Amino acid sequence: MRLFFILMLAPLAAVALDLTDQQRADIEARIQPFSAVCVQGETCGGGGDAVAASAGRSGEDVYNAACMACHSAGIAGAPKVGDQVAWAGRIGKGMDALYDSGINGVAGTGMIARGGCVDCSDDEIRLAVDFMVDGSR
Ligand code: HEC
Repeated sequence: MRLFFILMLAPLAAVALDLTDQQRADIEARIQPFSAVCVQGETCGGGGDAVAASAGRSGEDVYNAACMACHSAGIAGAPKVGDQVAWAGRIGKGMDALYDSGINGVAGTGMIARGGCVDCSDDEIRLAVDFMVDGSR
């Protein structure tokens, strides 16, 4: 019985060892992880930068879709984009605090988590905050 298995497996082992470098490279390419971490500004596998690779929306796109409704007109006390006075104190808290407000909202105000954009990623919200702050300095 054992001999039977050895005879059965021997050709398989031989096949596995007989791979050419090209075949090994092909297999490695096929079993690569689905995604790889790619830092913004870095050119990654498929070409283009990290923003394009993640298919994420730009800060401006997210702002127009999810934030403008309140932040262009100042609805419910929202600081208007471009209003340097309204933003100065907020910018003084540091970007991390503002990202946190964008992602988690400001309790007890009209600023709900992600401005209500349920399909916005954390990074997209950060980009939208960057866009708003850049336009309000
Ligand atoms: C429904 C209205 C509304 C929408 C939509 C909205 N905001 Fe706001 N936002 C507010 C209000 C109101 C405030 C002021 C909260 C306060 O009193 O500090 C605010 C404040 C902020 C602040 C400053 C918070 C701080 O800590 O000083 C940031 C940053 C911000 N919003 C980001 C965003 C982003 C990014 C989006 C879109 C993804 C968004 N907001 C969408 C109403 C809105």
